[in-house]
Amino acid sequence: MYEFIQKFHSGFAYLALLLLVVAVVNSFIGMSSKKEFTAKDRKIALFGLAGIHTQLLIGIIVYFLSPKGFPVIGDAGMGEVMKNAALRLTVVEHPLINIIGITLITIGWMKHKNLTTSESKFKTFSIYYGLGLVLILSRIPWSMWF
Ligand code: HEM
Repeated sequence: MYEFIQKFHSGFAYLALLLLVVAVVNSFIGMSSKKEFTAKDRKIALFGLAGIHTQLLIGIIVYFLSPKGFPVIGDAGMGEVMKNAALRLTVVEHPLINIIGITLITIGWMKHKNLTTSESKFKTFSIYYGLGLVLILSRIPWSMWF
């Protein structure tokens, strides 16, 4: 069970990040070219949101099954986890920073619904999705992934 979920979290991350990057690039292009916000742009942003929420759900399951997740707190103690950079990354930094990033992305999605101009919608997605992406990328366990 753990191995399957861990591989799923690892593999689905490619799709989730790709969808998010496409949403961020699309919103920057829309903002700088001052084009109209269409149903297609909304769909691109929605796919970015759905992908990263799916990744979050898988991440929460991995967290409680992984020997590099929550169980290690019981085994080694929180003091040891914080002293060890690799464990601190998977037990604390990666989950926490990613949840903050996903929260920003979700706020961006909610905010755009109340906005009326194309410019403000693209700007909101650029800021919230862009910041969310930067936070997520800053705490990926890259050495484990590749
Ligand atoms: C939303 C964006 C997220 C992305 C893109 C992401 C991506 C990744 C990647 C690429 C890895 C390395 C996988 C590997 O070993 O090949 C990883 C590991 C891990 N992630 Fe995430 N993750 C996300 C969110 C989360 C969240 C929210 C949690 C927990 C609540 C979480 C918990 C973990 C854990 C515990 C590991 C270590 C798994 C292991 O090797 O046993 N992730 N993540």
